[in-house]
Amino acid sequence: MEISNNLSSKLQWESIDLNSLLSKRTRNISKGNDTDAGRMWRLPTDHPDPIVLAGGIPDDTVLPTADLIQGIVNAVENHADDALNYGGWFGYEGCRNAIATRQNNIEGTSLTANNIIMHNGSSGCLENILKAFIEPGDVAIVESPSYSGTVRAILGYQAEVIEVPMHKTGVDPEAFKTIVNGLHAEGKRVKLFYTIPDFHNPMGNVTSLEIREKILQICSENQIIIAEDAAYTELHFENPPPSSYYALSDGHGVIKMCSFSKILATGLRAGWIQARPEFAEPLTRVRFDMGTSPLVHYAIEYLINSGNLDKHVENMRSLYQEKCSIMIDSLRHYCSPYIKVETPEGGYFLWVECLEGKAIDLVTAAAKEGVIFPLGSVFFVDKTTNNNHFRLAYTRESKEHLKDAGKRIRSAFEKILD
Ligand SMILES: Cc1ncc(COP(=O)(O)O)c(C=O)c1O
Repeated sequence: MEISNNLSSKLQWESIDLNSLLSKRTRNISKGNDTDAGRMWRLPTDHPDPIVLAGGIPDDTVLPTADLIQGIVNAVENHADDALNYGGWFGYEGCRNAIATRQNNIEGTSLTANNIIMHNGSSGCLENILKAFIEPGDVAIVESPSYSGTVRAILGYQAEVIEVPMHKTGVDPEAFKTIVNGLHAEGKRVKLFYTIPDFHNPMGNVTSLEIREKILQICSENQIIIAEDAAYTELHFENPPPSSYYALSDGHGVIKMCSFSKILATGLRAGWIQARPEFAEPLTRVRFDMGTSPLVHYAIEYLINSGNLDKHVENMRSLYQEKCSIMIDSLRHYCSPYIKVETPEGGYFLWVECLEGKAIDLVTAAAKEGVIFPLGSVFFVDKTTNNNHFRLAYTRESKEHLKDAGKRIRSAFEKILD
């Protein structure tokens, strides 16, 4: 003890300014919000029965836990040498084969395991893409609004993030082209277009096929890589969304990011990049983490090959459709004079416009009523953008809470408009 005290008194760290040692990347970025962290440690309410409509988390009362346990037990009993080893750059081949075959059935693609790179969710995929393709000063275009975690990640790689307004059927290709031309005229290098075409976060909308085709054309003419985030693609209520950018282009100029977080469980931290070999090569070249857990890959392979992942996704589609309609009914019943909301065709979110009062006041007042949800402005790069929205995630809360949420939000409106 005495020795260590002596040593610690000789160490200089207390007088050193740690900021002077930080990378420029770290200095340039602020701490993310709870949504970006994926977890709220403390709810901003003292309400005894809070209703949390904040993060995009699946309903954890219906997870296929028995299948996950069985998959893990099988892997440890029969494949410990592989399942408990490092995953490597691509990840466990059996799982990648199962994913490729499943995607080919869904998308009509002709993927093999070589087109699949296992990752730490869709966010791990994005970080890998940024690491391989983005240099400080490059430009990445995002939809406005967009998923806040992605915007932070791009800023973290010291790229400039330019927003293009998102409408009900997607971004306006003409506006997109004008922005690209303007950036080129300024001598900037536009490297990436990050898009969430299916059941967008936060807007819940779907980009039309026509817009996908036009954007593909513009991006290919300007050598802009499309980073297609398909986190919610499978969670359609009735009809599936149009063909993916990846399927439409056979992967030429498109890297698709997929995730098991929203169709299965966020805690698995599993997702995959779908890419042509010429993209997969540089992506794996800059991978220094020795892969993600093959044990999880084995469990996922078991779920896919048993057919139980498909059954689970099918059940989630109808459960989330029901929850979505309960939430909307409750909002329309209690809050119709104050809000505008459209019914999404899938996904996790409602993008609600405040017709009266300010969304920022509503979020605070609603927290006092015990309903927690994020303000729309967190999904814009320019937080001063003129919008008056808030986002509600309806997948995780109980049906009883969803029914009650509208009533509590109405009380919050009454308080701010008093
Ligand atoms: C559009 C989108 N992409 C990516 C993510 C990150 O998910 P994960 O890394 O768990 O796959 C989220 C999480 O909310 C999201 O909404």
